[in-house]
Amino acid sequence: SGYPTHAPGPPSLPVDAEGLQKQIDELSAFSDTPAPSVTRVLYSDKDVAARRYIKNLMEKSGLSVREDAVGNIFGRWNGNDVGLAAVATGSHIDAIPYSGKYDGVVGVLGAIEAINVLKRSGFQPNRSLEVIMFTSEEPTRFGISCLGSRLMAGSEGLANALKETVDAQNISFFDAARAAGYHIDQEDFRNVFLKDTYSSFLELHIEQGPILEEEGVSIGIVTAIAAPASIKVEFEGNGGHAGAVLMPARNDAGLAAAELALAVEKHVLESGSTDTVGTVGILELHPGAINSIPSKSHVEIDTRDIDETRRNIVVEKIHQSAISIAKNRRVRLSEFKIINQDPPALSAEPIIKAMEHAARQLNLSHKLMISRAYHDSLFMARISPMGMIFIPCYKGYSHKPEEFASAEDIANGVKVLALTLAKLSQS
Ligand code: GLV
Ligand code: MN
Ligand code: MN
Ligand code: MN
Repeated sequence: SGYPTHAPGPPSLPVDAEGLQKQIDELSAFSDTPAPSVTRVLYSDKDVAARRYIKNLMEKSGLSVREDAVGNIFGRWNGNDVGLAAVATGSHIDAIPYSGKYDGVVGVLGAIEAINVLKRSGFQPNRSLEVIMFTSEEPTRFGISCLGSRLMAGSEGLANALKETVDAQNISFFDAARAAGYHIDQEDFRNVFLKDTYSSFLELHIEQGPILEEEGVSIGIVTAIAAPASIKVEFEGNGGHAGAVLMPARNDAGLAAAELALAVEKHVLESGSTDTVGTVGILELHPGAINSIPSKSHVEIDTRDIDETRRNIVVEKIHQSAISIAKNRRVRLSEFKIINQDPPALSAEPIIKAMEHAARQLNLSHKLMISRAYHDSLFMARISPMGMIFIPCYKGYSHKPEEFASAEDIANGVKVLALTLAKLSQS
């Protein structure tokens, strides 16, 4: 049977907005920095506790819970026809240092609540419905974004790279995973790969930008996700005493890094499009003493564009600048490593239609938009038709403690998600 629509008027979907807000608040307490900031890093004790919290909620909602080798968590509601590919939805709960409590979380707790809503309404899916909590959407610990979904989508490159991947404390990915209770061996990475498992994938997320709030629109329907790239650069010079080494004799690795940061901005602006962005979010100097000329510098660069070719031109220009800066300053470019250089992703037309239909049925204002932030959906799009639902957030704030979305906006997002899941599970 289909979803019980009560004509006339919108279907009544009993979202427990208060309960959901309480869960968001509770989850935010699993943090390594004080409230209102949230810091939850992959495989940390706080991350492990937060994972337990999510699995417990999934079980309370009657979902059967499974975890893969890297800790992607799946909660399944079996449909009438378990032979059909499932409809999946989810997001992440890891949080970058000193961030907020809504990024990702709304799409995990909101997904579980969407399942609860459907169950309360007496709905029975035809295709199975599955909630996914992805491992490490954020690149904080190992420098790799969307680690869980990237692997799920079958990235051989990542499966190989993880064998040698270490964090800033030189703890290997394997050891970190083991400490969190995941015992990974070589074979297991292949078990993480998925194919033909899902007929659709949906992600509910805060916009992380100002458009919906500014325009007073309740729901954003994502048509495409911009293409992200990240680069790690290292310069090495001779260093030396800040008083005794005279200016002509210096080869300052710190100034090379500073010059490269400005070159990133220049190349991004040269693209001529406001869709091109670039950020130097990490710049570290060694030895980091006021009276010592930096002998080593470490720069990490993030650049994105909705147009992949234009983004690739920026990456190439940054590379050329790094080479010429090193030459002119007589420092060594000891590393120029492209960590990831991903193509953009398009939402699937039938899913866009289903989300629009749901918003219309619920009398919620909505608009089509692109996502400038990346999401696990960028990778799920490789193995399943994909769609994303955005909700407004206060001033577009994200990746900082002031991040906020209202309980009402979150509830609206959960309703659109529930209705779209219901629709897609019957088709
Ligand atoms: C997501 O966190 C992003 O950096 O876009
Ligand atoms: Mn984020
Ligand atoms: Mn996110
Ligand atoms: Mn993210």
